[in-house]
Amino acid sequence: MKLLMVFLVAALASVATARVRRVADTDRDGDWMAWKAKYQKVYEDAEEDTLRRGIWQEKLRTIGHHNLAHSLGEKSFTLEVNQFTDMTTEEYSSLLRSSLKRQKSTRTYAPNRCSSVALAGNLELPASVDWRQDGYVTPVKNQGEISDSIEFSVTGALEGQWFKKSGHLISLSEQQITDCIGVADPSLDQIYKYIEAKGIESDTDYPPSEEQQSCAYNPAKRAAAVSGFDTITPAGNETVLQTYVATVGPISVYVDASQDSFQLYSNGVYDETKCSSANLDHAMLVVGYGTDQQTGLDYWIVKNSWGPDWGMGGYIWMSRNKENQCGIATSATYPFFTCDQ
Ligand SMILES: *[C@@H]1O[C@H](CO)[C@@H](O)[C@H](O)[C@H]1NC(C)=O
Repeated sequence: MKLLMVFLVAALASVATARVRRVADTDRDGDWMAWKAKYQKVYEDAEEDTLRRGIWQEKLRTIGHHNLAHSLGEKSFTLEVNQFTDMTTEEYSSLLRSSLKRQKSTRTYAPNRCSSVALAGNLELPASVDWRQDGYVTPVKNQGEISDSIEFSVTGALEGQWFKKSGHLISLSEQQITDCIGVADPSLDQIYKYIEAKGIESDTDYPPSEEQQSCAYNPAKRAAAVSGFDTITPAGNETVLQTYVATVGPISVYVDASQDSFQLYSNGVYDETKCSSANLDHAMLVVGYGTDQQTGLDYWIVKNSWGPDWGMGGYIWMSRNKENQCGIATSATYPFFTCDQ
């Protein structure tokens, strides 16, 4: 009965909005102001405000429809308003696309490595893993507008492996990479090569900034080093990825994050049939995996770099064992060290 009421109200609301398409829904004035204040949105002029308001209301309808479907048991995850709610899906996904060309990562070299991975064929894997509970994972960061997700994915993986090696969890400086690497849009290879050559400071010593600055790296404050990175093969095999997550620690991945369901993701096991396993545009960090007790769905626990407000405290549960959905296992990498490091 209650669901029927919700449905009727939603249906009536959509009829009403269709009729007054061009007129802003004044009931939402307070919400719009509050949302802009929360995310510090400042627009050029009244015209842009109206345009953004229209997109925002369209997204509210998307969220409403999706969450209704979730309450009827048709969706395994919910949506919510967040910092991207005033952007069209095209605008949002064009932000991500900037990193598409940086996913190529084939360099593998292993001289004298100390962190070798012995992968027995019949390894008994735990049913669930969460490296956050073992101190491998720093708090969720926010990449802002100048940095790219791949920098956060690399520092996240290195933070985990550095903790494993040294016993110290140190939040590492993406700002240093942004300021000092000396190339626009660095690739995964270039980022690892840079850290290998120079080392990397902590976030405390080299703090994040809203802007790109001139390089202020101080080698005396080097907090971590690296010898290279491995790409997990065969690409696209989730059982193999599971083995590495269970035995190595947090693993860098690329996914297709271009759908509006990702843009507005809130909670639950993300399951998007429109997702591509090959066209990947966003880097994140797999920190574990498990199975949802209520739905029985397998998921990967994935750390994003859009602040703790996005998703589940900054995390998303990506579908696991669903034919490599969104390319979660297509481009997976992790750093290693040689014995003299
Ligand atoms: C993934 O790799 C495992 C272990 O090598 C293998 O048994 C399995 O068949 C592979 N799965 C797919 C879908 O290729």
